[in-house]
Amino acid sequence: MEIKKVVIPVAGKGTRFLPATKELPKEMIPIINKPMIQYVVEEAINSGVEEVIFVTSRGKEAIEDYFSRNKTLEKFLEEKQKFPELEMCKKIGEMVTYRTVIQNEQLGLGHAILCAEDLIGSENFGVILGDDLILSREPVLKQLMEVSKINNDKSVIGVMEIDPSDTKKYGVISGSTLANDPRTLKLDAMVEKPEPLKAPSNLATPGRYIFTPRIFKFLKEIKRGVGGEYQLTDAINLLCQEEKFFAHKFKGDRFDTGNIQGYLEATIEFALREENTRETMISIIKEKVSHYNLSI
Ligand code: G1P
Repeated sequence: MEIKKVVIPVAGKGTRFLPATKELPKEMIPIINKPMIQYVVEEAINSGVEEVIFVTSRGKEAIEDYFSRNKTLEKFLEEKQKFPELEMCKKIGEMVTYRTVIQNEQLGLGHAILCAEDLIGSENFGVILGDDLILSREPVLKQLMEVSKINNDKSVIGVMEIDPSDTKKYGVISGSTLANDPRTLKLDAMVEKPEPLKAPSNLATPGRYIFTPRIFKFLKEIKRGVGGEYQLTDAINLLCQEEKFFAHKFKGDRFDTGNIQGYLEATIEFALREENTRETMISIIKEKVSHYNLSI
């Protein structure tokens, strides 16, 4: 089964990035000159997804605007004969077919995904959380799609090894490795943000999932969990008791751009990876290190 739709929750307030997020959706904060949400949407498109569903909230219309044409700007760029910029803006305005659903109350990730139920219907779908950007040869969602495909179109969650002291930041899984695929596990259980001593493993998700529509049944059954919120993790924990569910150790380098440290790391790394910014970044760092008499 091909996955055609992906849900991207973008309703959050982004308090870790105040004051920037006072008026600007956190997803619109750029790494270099590209808003973080574009990296996420590109991951979906490059995985073959045809439609993105933004679960959004009031005041975050800039995200929808970004993925639609801006005729005033285009006219301006045309008059100024800035043709490469014009092409770039047109392309972004047409890069994805999207739909939006408003999450009126911030009741948690589980609640956000449930808001998309009517737009998903009865097909398998993906979910990407935008706080983590992942650089990989093959998009992570695509990697998960392939695992789902060879396992009877069942649900798959992307996981990575974390430092055991970090379990309180993530949904953490337990499972048993498949005999024919050392990177894939059959999921047995999942716990949201456990204390290190209570964590079932050091395998956590940075927010990449493929679900069968059965997840909606459990999203309606769960009670408020960690932080008083309806947790997607709790619904996953129920779904994996009822039908086979897999966890896949994806390949890729992940950046937690939801906090300042990860954001800085991504900015430097992305600049170093791009040919046209690499030399500039290196010379800036060298110059600053020598100017402030630092040692690195
Ligand atoms: C959410 C999920 C958590 C996941 C994390 C990845 O938590 O609930 O299971 O590991 O995203 O970023 P949040 O970071 O939104 O609190």
